[in-house]
Amino acid sequence: MYRSHTCGELRIADKGKKVTLAGWVQKSRKLGGMTFIDLRDRYGITQLVVEADAAPALVETAASLGREYVIQVEGEVLERESKNPKMPTGEIEIKVLNINILNASSVPPFTIEENSDGGEDLRAKYRYLDLRRPPLQRALALRHRLAQEIRTYLDGQGFMEIETPYLIKSTPEGARDFVVPSRMNPGTFYALPQSPQTFKQLLMVAGYDRYFQIVRCFRDEDLRADRQPEFTQIDCEMSFVEQDDVLNTFEGMMRQMFKNAVGVDIPNPLPRMSWYEAMDKYGSDKPDIRFGMTINDVTSMVQGCGFGVFDNSAYVGAIAVPGCAEYTRKQLDELTEWVKRPQVGAAGLVYVKLNPDGSIKSSVDKFYTPEKLQAIADACGARTGDLLLLMCGDKRKTQTRLGVLRIEMGNRLGLRDPHVFAPLWIVDFPLLEWSDEDGRFYAMHHPFTAPKPEHEKWFYSDKKEDLERVCANAYDFVLNGTELGGGSIRIHNADMQKRMFEVLGIGPEEAEYKFGFIINAFKFGAPPHGGLAFGFDRVCALFGGQETIRDYIAFPKNNQGRDVMIDSPSKIDQVQMDELFLASTVKE
Ligand code: AMO
Repeated sequence: MYRSHTCGELRIADKGKKVTLAGWVQKSRKLGGMTFIDLRDRYGITQLVVEADAAPALVETAASLGREYVIQVEGEVLERESKNPKMPTGEIEIKVLNINILNASSVPPFTIEENSDGGEDLRAKYRYLDLRRPPLQRALALRHRLAQEIRTYLDGQGFMEIETPYLIKSTPEGARDFVVPSRMNPGTFYALPQSPQTFKQLLMVAGYDRYFQIVRCFRDEDLRADRQPEFTQIDCEMSFVEQDDVLNTFEGMMRQMFKNAVGVDIPNPLPRMSWYEAMDKYGSDKPDIRFGMTINDVTSMVQGCGFGVFDNSAYVGAIAVPGCAEYTRKQLDELTEWVKRPQVGAAGLVYVKLNPDGSIKSSVDKFYTPEKLQAIADACGARTGDLLLLMCGDKRKTQTRLGVLRIEMGNRLGLRDPHVFAPLWIVDFPLLEWSDEDGRFYAMHHPFTAPKPEHEKWFYSDKKEDLERVCANAYDFVLNGTELGGGSIRIHNADMQKRMFEVLGIGPEEAEYKFGFIINAFKFGAPPHGGLAFGFDRVCALFGGQETIRDYIAFPKNNQGRDVMIDSPSKIDQVQMDELFLASTVKE
């Protein structure tokens, strides 16, 4: 037996026991003639002490230990003289009687403690050392716990876990596909799935009724804090359901996960908000409802007063920022520059300060009387001491920009506590999204989402305005400003699916080439069905109080999509290239 206990296990009740521990040397220090060693494993840290009068060989061995050496010690549990209430094992220490060095270690390139002195790149290169740190161990333990909760809940609800293939057909309709050349079929490629969408629908056609999978998905898209090129979904599908059945089932799952993994009770039922309301009030289809500061349409109030910029705009919106009337000229200039950055894209920012002394000062005083400004402020629910910020332009674009500004002000004012959880469903998404650039419609969710039955009349119309009005039974699960999951009730009829491809400008031949298998399957008795997928990495990160998902993935990629530890992606040799019938056009 390598050990009798773990490094997080022993307590004062174990005093006097003879024990054997094994782990890594976190640090060792000499005090008088004594050597103190912190021994770490995944369960915690235990203090070891080699006393001054120990056998010389033992003292010598203790002195030779470096950081991250792997050792096994035998000893006796003693009550500590100076106890450490911050450590679960802080009341005891082990009087060492024997040390066995199991493996030496090179000096680690950064400190392996709660907070490391290593930069991000260095820690990524030595990910296996970073993973020894308690925050990462807690993150992966949370991930494991959540995965168990998901499996228990879904199994209890009659869902079957079924695996679907990773080498599939390339049918990019959202992000780019990662493709894999086929050696056995020269000149052809597999694609890695962006999600198992079509397979889970085929499982419904096959009669499996309730499917789930905790599954890896692959998307070649620009990376952000909450995006990785390979990520994990909790992917689910159900037959003979309507939207409410799906929402109730997965609300139940999230409720159980919140309760059992982080001890949080979420509202029952969860709030639901239409996509239109989310856009109008929060300027986002993933609203953070932990704080107010909602967007107000003030178009009709501000027009006709001689201020040309507003008079010539389709829409003028405003948010009331609480307690910020004291913003200085310099701060307001900085904020104006901030909204003008390409990431926000606003042309400018108009402010109205409701000064604590009751006076009003704005950047448009020339055009509006104080009474008029007060009326606008009142309409926005602003109070004395608040700062009103206004933007104008195209309606949705302006709302989106105000939404970004709202989040920024929420951050600056500390209104986005990561340990407060405000989940909700966004429902009634438009089915289609027009792209001016490409002159075509795109599926807002994906091409398998069904129009609401009451909107089908517009779905079969050829008019752009009609198609723009069609809503889908599509829904997103949103938490604290992040989209955690999304899904829809699907099309289960071959003719409607064909119509969808037609609306999306995918011709019959292309539809047949890319999606013939699913159109065909729908001819053989496809049941009504629907489902959704949660981004598991995002779920883990938000439950852990973080926005970046990287720490919740054991071996993530960096922002350039690289794994710097294994140095991937990398070149392959000419033999492999030839076998795969590949030629590179990259100039050396
Ligand atoms: P969707 O594309 O909305 O839906 O993806 C579902 C959820 O997956 C997460 N997600 C990601 N997480 C990390 N990195 C990424 N690059 C990434 N992309 C997406 C998000 C998102 O909400 N097949 C449909 C689901 C369905 O209709 O059933 C789908 O994939 O949390």
